[in-house]
Amino acid sequence: MRWRLLDACLYVAVFGGGPAVGYDCEGWPNRLVRRFGEPVIPVRRLLKVERNLEDLDLPRRNSSRGLFLVLDLRHLQRPHRGSRGGPQRSEDTQGVTQGVIRAWAALSAHSLLALRVAENPTDDVLELLRRFFFATQQRHWYKKPGPMPAISDADEICCDPCGCLAQKSISAELQPHDYHYAAANYLRWEARVRGQHPFFSEALKYQTDKVTYHRYELLYHRTLPRSLDHEGQAGCFLEIGFGCVEFVRDVALSAGIWPVIFPGARVHILEIDMPCVQKLSTWLREQNYSVHVVDVGAVLELERLKHDVFRPECPHGLLSVVVDDGSHNSSDLVTTFLSVYPSLKPGGQYYMEDLGLTSYNVYDSLEPMTTKGGERPGTAFFFVTSLLSGLFAKGPRSYAPFQDVGLLRCWLNICLIEKAFL
Ligand SMILES: *[C@@H]1O[C@H](CO)[C@@H](O)[C@H](O)[C@H]1NC(C)=O
Ligand SMILES: *[C@@H]1O[C@H](CO)[C@@H](O)[C@H](O)[C@H]1NC(C)=O
Ligand SMILES: *[C@@H]1O[C@H](CO)[C@@H](O)[C@H](O)[C@H]1NC(C)=O
Repeated sequence: MRWRLLDACLYVAVFGGGPAVGYDCEGWPNRLVRRFGEPVIPVRRLLKVERNLEDLDLPRRNSSRGLFLVLDLRHLQRPHRGSRGGPQRSEDTQGVTQGVIRAWAALSAHSLLALRVAENPTDDVLELLRRFFFATQQRHWYKKPGPMPAISDADEICCDPCGCLAQKSISAELQPHDYHYAAANYLRWEARVRGQHPFFSEALKYQTDKVTYHRYELLYHRTLPRSLDHEGQAGCFLEIGFGCVEFVRDVALSAGIWPVIFPGARVHILEIDMPCVQKLSTWLREQNYSVHVVDVGAVLELERLKHDVFRPECPHGLLSVVVDDGSHNSSDLVTTFLSVYPSLKPGGQYYMEDLGLTSYNVYDSLEPMTTKGGERPGTAFFFVTSLLSGLFAKGPRSYAPFQDVGLLRCWLNICLIEKAFL
């Protein structure tokens, strides 16, 4: 076995040296587990530092105790920039990838798998992690029955510059008895998470599909900040998509959520439908948010907005939280991110909603272009997974773009990209 299994309790001792530049990995993964939020079931830790996975005493898949498995992939590292020799050969890493896939398959519902990743990991490691990200979106495209990709049944994955934490979901292969047992655990977890933030109750008032269909509160409640203040000043919030298209006032317009849950923040909403916004102009003047008519596909309109609105209004011209709930067109999602992400404050959050549509298909053209295990670039979801190379490339030793990404997290249909505090 070329890879090791590490006990989280012994982590500090084992991981003494070599933290990523500018990011302290001491105490990982415990810190990432805390950021992840409440686990569905209590997680049991492994007690042995190094052993063969085949010998592990894995709990039954309906066990009420999840396993917390920590695997170390740090030996799979790309040579430094400027050093001779190409990237590590794939045959060195295939055994490791297969081992991780087997371990994942054996885990009981709601277990956590932590993968410690080196700075500048090899392409094979990035590809393995990308498959976990795609697995969080599979429920859209791979309904049972039928073969599932090698990595499936992932509810969520969350990565920081030291590694990733994935949560196993309830497998479709479970026996009915086990399935109901695991589902009951999940329902109790949902109820606990829903009580953790005011977002859910505010969003329900508008009957927005954010909560009536997508259940985004289960991510938002574990991630949204309580306040948007930036260095003591009122921070800025931006949502793309006002919802004018299917306009039914008092029902469809969820923009009113944000000024209530972020009192004092400056809330800006972008909408493409000019006649709709004009028709509402009198009513809009009384709202605690501003609506701007912008076509995000016409990227220069976004550049103007940054200069004319955010620069004078927001602390240092920077945004605290961005939510893209616009056209869900991959091309628009990527264009908007490339233009707006530079205006996010350090530690700021960028959410992309309804992203599952672009994971195994291209929403823009409805042409299936990506298959399980053969995910291809050209969709917004693939773009998000490509940010992994910047996340793990801290310091001057890599050419990867977006090295200021500090956290990448995906749940069914929604991803969060957080800027580091560097
Ligand atoms: C798990 O399933 C087995 C048989 O399918 C059952 O006997 C056992 O009671 C279940 N365990 C729990 C905790 O429900
Ligand atoms: C705007 O905020 C003020 C102060 O919190 C509040 O009194 C008012 O009702 C809000 N207006 C709307 C339309 O929600
Ligand atoms: C998506 O956006 C691109 C670029 O703006 C455009 O060419 C394409 O027609 C859009 N697709 C849909 C379905 O709106």
